[in-house]
Amino acid sequence: MRLLEVAGLVRDYALPRSNPFAGAPRVRVLHGIDLSIPVGGSLGIVGESGSGKSTLARTVLALERPQGGTVRLRGEDLFGLSRSKLREARRHMQAVFQDPYGSLDPRHTVLRIVAEPIAALEPETTKVERRERVAAMLEAVGLPAAAAQKYPHEFSGGQRQRIAIARALVTHPALIVADEPVSALDVSVQAQVLNLMLDLRERLGLAWLFISHDLGVVRVVTERVAVLQHGRVVEEGPTAEVLSAPRHPYTQALVAAMPRVRR
Ligand SMILES: Nc1ncnc2c1ncn2[C@@H]1O[C@H](COP(=O)(O)OP(=O)(O)OP(=O)(O)O)[C@@H](O)[C@H]1O
Ligand SMILES: [Mg+2]
Repeated sequence: MRLLEVAGLVRDYALPRSNPFAGAPRVRVLHGIDLSIPVGGSLGIVGESGSGKSTLARTVLALERPQGGTVRLRGEDLFGLSRSKLREARRHMQAVFQDPYGSLDPRHTVLRIVAEPIAALEPETTKVERRERVAAMLEAVGLPAAAAQKYPHEFSGGQRQRIAIARALVTHPALIVADEPVSALDVSVQAQVLNLMLDLRERLGLAWLFISHDLGVVRVVTERVAVLQHGRVVEEGPTAEVLSAPRHPYTQALVAAMPRVRR
């Protein structure tokens, strides 16, 4: 059984209606996406701006409902689950987004922020248990225990992304969906956060769906890569192979545009 299995995923958005008497026009953003990730595996999604990467992330996370196709996590079809079963399934899959500012509530302490998924998904846990699990996660992502009592603005961008990763890991998920997790960071800080991700993958047996417009980043952290163009996967394979000998003209163009120093 694959950890994540996406089949025939279709996502349409309604456009603003120009004629109040006609139905809203729709635009198709995902045209039947198939992907899968084994337990502990890593798949990168690359493609230019507007190709549908974030839409794919949101739909896989079941934050949006697709018009067609299925997302199976550990064999369970997420869109066929009741609300309570979906909540249980969510424990196994967490997200990390690009902007650690926007995704961390500035009014809350790091303790509260990192404990939030436990409070939401495992309400039966005690306060002490939560505090201990947060401390363990802060340590796992390389932050001092004292970070728990501080607020997001007291940290650098890289540290804030570590807090976001700690929050994603605190329910012990099997899969992390990361949408441009290092794109807002300086290159040197990017490398530290990417190393942390690689390390966590190895130590915790985590699987990653890793979205980035940066092929150099995807090359470092993923075993396989899928290339998205206008909502279709045009090429998929081992990352090293796809990036060194791209077959599809679109992938060839992306690789040609990649800065030399990062190759
Ligand atoms: N909520 C929405 N309503 C209408 N159209 C949307 C919505 N979200 C995304 N789109 C459209 O879907 C397409 C894909 O957008 P998406 O954000 O998934 O691309 P992306 O690959 O993540 O781009 P980027 O690299 O810039 O983040 C775009 O044309 C976008 O305008
Ligand atoms: Mg995006």
